[in-house]
Amino acid sequence: MNWRALFKPSAKYSILALLVVGVVVGVVGYFATQQTLHATSSDEFCMSCHSNHSLKDEVLASAHGGGRAGVTVQCQDCHLPHNPIKYMIKKIIVSKDLYGFLTIDGFNTQAWLDENRKEQADHALKYFRATDSANCQHCHTRIYENQPDTMKKMAKRMHERNFKKEADKRKTCVDCHKGVAHVYPKG
Ligand code: HEC
Ligand code: HEC
Ligand code: HEC
Ligand code: HEC
Repeated sequence: MNWRALFKPSAKYSILALLVVGVVVGVVGYFATQQTLHATSSDEFCMSCHSNHSLKDEVLASAHGGGRAGVTVQCQDCHLPHNPIKYMIKKIIVSKDLYGFLTIDGFNTQAWLDENRKEQADHALKYFRATDSANCQHCHTRIYENQPDTMKKMAKRMHERNFKKEADKRKTCVDCHKGVAHVYPKG
């Protein structure tokens, strides 16, 4: 075995390596741009496939749709990571949606959503649990420490009690708050 061969730059591999690096940089760049686009754009991208679902109307009717604060929280604010690399990974996982869109019978109908709501909701909740509801905390930055005085006493108490627990015993936002943007299925 010639150990030096491992370190010798071989023309073949360096081109391969360059290609790999090039593709990775290109893909990351592409998704980083996408993220910027999404951050500044509307929910249209999501609703292009979910167009017959009541999801957007539900958001608008919720506290996250405008109401008192006049803020309409966008789909991606809650559902996609803010970090471009994680965003890219989630997007690739989400791209199963493309496959589903093409293969699930009657997907883009309200009847399908009503029928599959529980299963879809549980799937969505998995993401929030896996990230300790990072998307929620991105906006709600003062839930655990330095809570505003205007917050309901009962809410403050619940949040404080939860925060006092060890990190791995703590509940995450969506464990207590379901249906903050959509109709959460009961039962
Ligand atoms: C290409 C069409 C398409 C687009 C675009 C799309 N979706 Fe979906 N979405 C689907 C399909 C199909 C399913 C059901 C997938 C399944 O059950 O296999 C789904 C399921 C979901 C679910 C529930 C299951 C899960 O993965 O958590 C959420 C949440 C969701 N979409 C959010 C979004 C958001 C947010 C956007 C915009 C960033 C979006 N979707 C864009 C087609 C799409
Ligand atoms: C883009 C910022 C943003 C994100 C992301 C976000 N929220 Fe909110 N949230 C708000 C705003 C703004 C309000 C309205 C505050 C008001 O009306 O005074 C609100 C209100 C709420 C309320 C009070 C609801 C009510 O009925 O009064 C709860 C509970 C809540 N959010 C939980 C969550 C949870 C859980 C998540 C993650 C799944 C989340 N939020 C994600 C900005 C956000
Ligand atoms: C252990 C359960 C629990 C956890 C975990 C929890 N909350 Fe709450 N939260 C409550 C309860 C109970 C209330 C008061 C009842 C209500 O208004 O829905 C509340 C109220 C709120 C309110 C409304 C406050 C007001 O004065 O109107 C917001 C906003 C909120 N929570 C956000 C969050 C966010 C974001 C997280 C995650 C960082 C979180 N909560 C984690 C139980 C919890
Ligand atoms: C404030 C955060 C928030 C916003 C904004 C939001 N979602 Fe969700 N979404 C959730 C949470 C949390 C769940 C998990 C189920 C639940 O608690 O209702 C969920 C569940 C879903 C599901 C699974 C089916 C269901 O109804 O539970 C789909 C599909 C979905 N969201 C799509 C969207 C689309 C499309 C938009 C934009 C029009 C959007 N969401 C906006 C937080 C949000």
